[in-house]
Amino acid sequence: MSIKAVVFDAYGTLYDIQSVAEVTEDAFPGYGEIITQVWRIKQLEYTWLRSLMRRYQDFAAVTRDSLAYTLRMLGLAYENDAFERVIEKYLHLDLYPDATAALAALRPRKLAILSNGSPDMLNALVRNSGLDALLDATISVDAKKTFKPSPEAYELVGEVLGTAPNEVLFVSSNPWDAAGAKSFGLNVAWIERVTPETMALACVENELVAPLTMFKAIRTQMDELGFAPDHCIHALSELPGIV
Ligand code: LAC
Repeated sequence: MSIKAVVFDAYGTLYDIQSVAEVTEDAFPGYGEIITQVWRIKQLEYTWLRSLMRRYQDFAAVTRDSLAYTLRMLGLAYENDAFERVIEKYLHLDLYPDATAALAALRPRKLAILSNGSPDMLNALVRNSGLDALLDATISVDAKKTFKPSPEAYELVGEVLGTAPNEVLFVSSNPWDAAGAKSFGLNVAWIERVTPETMALACVENELVAPLTMFKAIRTQMDELGFAPDHCIHALSELPGIV
């Protein structure tokens, strides 16, 4: 296998999305952890839902909508300022400590990002973190108006870098992204940052939000997709009253 290009997922792979926790906690004391987790879960969910609904909106919009969902679901009132301060962190996420050295060591291969991020948010993040000096390309799925793991998204690597799929090593810590890239035909390195052993330990040490609370948080409130139902009822028995 002769690898000519190494292509990275951005959020969660080169950049630590958990690094928003400090800002979310600062803006909403006591809620930082649940906001951070539900926000990311919903952000990804909205990319997949919008792709399936064929209602593409870019990742900047999806990131805002998923944060709005999270704060509404938790019943948190907020000023625009607080919302914008939290969103702004997406342009200044922390790099994983080994990211810069790893990229430098992979030279002279071509190095790129392929991310769901919109061009504006990705370019700002790459510039703010100094990775622009190391990357040959920052590729956004926005050109295809769909999200990973759609095959069209991974096609962009060859279109931009001029590489065949078997000449590319794609690196992601997101399992669904690693599977999507492999299904498309790229070579894939998955970074397993959380192992079943560390999960078992976390359960014993009670680090987890109660599973039912987590379910309620992500599956029981109307989503921010711009399509509201015509009626909101609380029991089947209310149906005769609305027809
Ligand atoms: C990315 C997100 C989805 O594409 O991790 O960068």
